[in-house]
Order: sequence, then structure tokens, then C-alpha cells
Amino acid sequence: MARRKIAMIGGGQIGGNLALLAAQKELGDVLIYDIAKAEGMIKGKALDIMQLRPHDGYDVNLEGSSDPESLTNSDVIIITAGIPRKPGMNREDLLEINLGIIKDVAEKVKTYAPNAFVIVISNPLDAMVYAFYKASGFKSNKVVGMAGALDSARFRTFIAMETGFSVQDVSCMVLGGHGDSMVPITRLATVGGVPVTKLISPERLEAIVERTRFAGGEIVKLFGNGSAFYAPAQSAIEMAESYLRDKKRVIPCASYCQGEFGINGYFIGVPSVIGSGGVEQILEFDLTKDEQNALLSTLEKVKKTVQGTGL
Ligand code: APR
Repeated sequence: MARRKIAMIGGGQIGGNLALLAAQKELGDVLIYDIAKAEGMIKGKALDIMQLRPHDGYDVNLEGSSDPESLTNSDVIIITAGIPRKPGMNREDLLEINLGIIKDVAEKVKTYAPNAFVIVISNPLDAMVYAFYKASGFKSNKVVGMAGALDSARFRTFIAMETGFSVQDVSCMVLGGHGDSMVPITRLATVGGVPVTKLISPERLEAIVERTRFAGGEIVKLFGNGSAFYAPAQSAIEMAESYLRDKKRVIPCASYCQGEFGINGYFIGVPSVIGSGGVEQILEFDLTKDEQNALLSTLEKVKKTVQGTGL
């Protein structure tokens, strides 16, 4: 079978790591696409990763290009085009500038890769994935936002750090928008099947939830100039892999809701099944009153940002 093709639109901090991880997992040949000004950087990154392959012995090819035609025949497209946050900024502060970029990218993807499965990472995530969907005219199952996978990984990390138990055995989900009002579902968080509410005091658990909500900002503050890139890249690669290998993993993703959890016509973080059909299903389940209220309040924030796109 011919190799699959994964294109990264935006070859900056996250884009470079996406390319590395996609190659290391041998998901397929990798294209890093960026604007002309960045062509030297992406060609250099592609060549650098090409030269890392002999150690592990994988054969996928990497290429950097600022020619949109290079997107042709992409099976998966991962979008990080846009600017990241600086300290003191909310994700919503990026709306104006990143919206123009997403519209430009959507036109190109529509023209050159109309059959691709598209994963959006650019922020503010819930509005950017919506903007891509509207501007491209893609079917809703072929467009998804990466947020919950990262937010859940952060929640899992903090639970493992608190308990001292293996992060591998921590399971949890974060629903809602990819903003400070996201909804970590503590009731369903477990370590090896044991509820975390039995392992961590309510006060400490509340502190962990709060840290999860602001985990992106914590890193922005530490960096001073840019936002997280290792964990966001890995989260999106899990989603791409589930699509390419038809794994049907259940991952919290910003998926297009059509009535699920009482949400209609918006992309928001919900448990999603990703397989060769794209977002194949959203797994709905009963929320408590508090969880439902928290989800509706995050939805209001998402709606406001989406309104700002004018789409
Ligand atoms: N087409 C393609 N690439 C573009 C375009 C465009 N129209 N406009 C900008 N880019 C590229 C930039 O040239 C840059 O190389 O997007 C890349 C963004 O990379 P970084 O600035 O390093 O940002 P990064 O940390 O990767 O974050 C990207 O993801 O998590 C979000 O908030 C984050 O919105 C930000 C995005």
C-alpha cells in the first residue's frame, strides 16, 4: 500500500514537533507547509528530521514547502498556522489575527486537499475549528479540534504527580471549550479503576482542577514568549493515528455537536470516536446537574467567541 501523507500547515513550534512525531510513528510521508517567509525554516526542519531517521531506520520522507499545491493528496492535515499567546493574553485575544489566517488556510485546503481529515490546533480553538468548517465547506465528520486530548493529558499528569502512581493508569476526561472554563469531570477520574475522589482530598482535587484549567497559561508565563508545543503535538498525533489506522479511539475532541449534551451547531470538547470515517460518533452520557451547568456556561463562552468570527 502506498504511504499515507500527513501535512502540517504551520511549521513553527508545534508544527515542527508534529512532523517529528508523525515520522517517528511512521504515520506516512510528512509535508511541512508554511508561508514563503518561513520557507527556509521548514525546509531546514524537514531535512533535519530526514537525517534523524537512519538511527531508527524508518523510511518515511519529509518535505518543507510554501507552495500550496504541495498539499495535494494529503490524507491528514494538522493546522497550527497562526500566532501563539504571550503572557497576559487569553486564547480569545488571538481571534482577529488567527481568523484571517484560518480563512486563508481553509481556501487552500479546499482547493488542494478536499478529502483530507483536518485537525485544527490554532487558538482560540473552538472558534478556529468552527471557522475552518464554515470557510472550507467540509463535512463535519472530517473536521475536528484538538483540545480535550491535551486538557485531559494535563489533568492526568497532575493526578499522577499528586498520587505518585503511574500516569499510565490515570484515566479522566475534560469536556467543554478549550479555555479557562473547561470542565474536568472529577467524578469519572480514576487511577487503575479506583475513583480519584477516594485517593485525593476534595481541597487538593479542586486545586488540581484549577491548575488543569490554567495549565496552558502556566506554560505561557514560564516561556515568556510563546505557548506549549510538545504535549499539544503529541495529542494531535494520537488523533491522526486513530484516523489513519482506524483505531476507533475514544478521545475528548472539539467535535461538531448536533444535539449531543444539548449542544447544537458548535464544536466543543466531547468524547469522540475517531476512525477511518473521521469523527464517527460522539459518546453521550448523563451528566450531573453541576456538570451540565458547567458545560452550558463554557458553551456560552464558546458561542461568544464564535460570534466574533462573523461566520
Ligand atoms: N499559512 C501557513 N502558515 C502560517 C500562516 C498561513 N497563512 N500564517 C502563519 N503561519 C505559520 C507561521 O509562519 C509560523 O511558522 O504558523 C506558524 C505558527 O508557529 P508558532 O508561531 O511557532 O506557533 P505555535 O507555538 O506552533 O502555535 C501555533 O497553535 O496552540 C496554538 O495558540 C497556539 O495559535 C497558536 C498555534
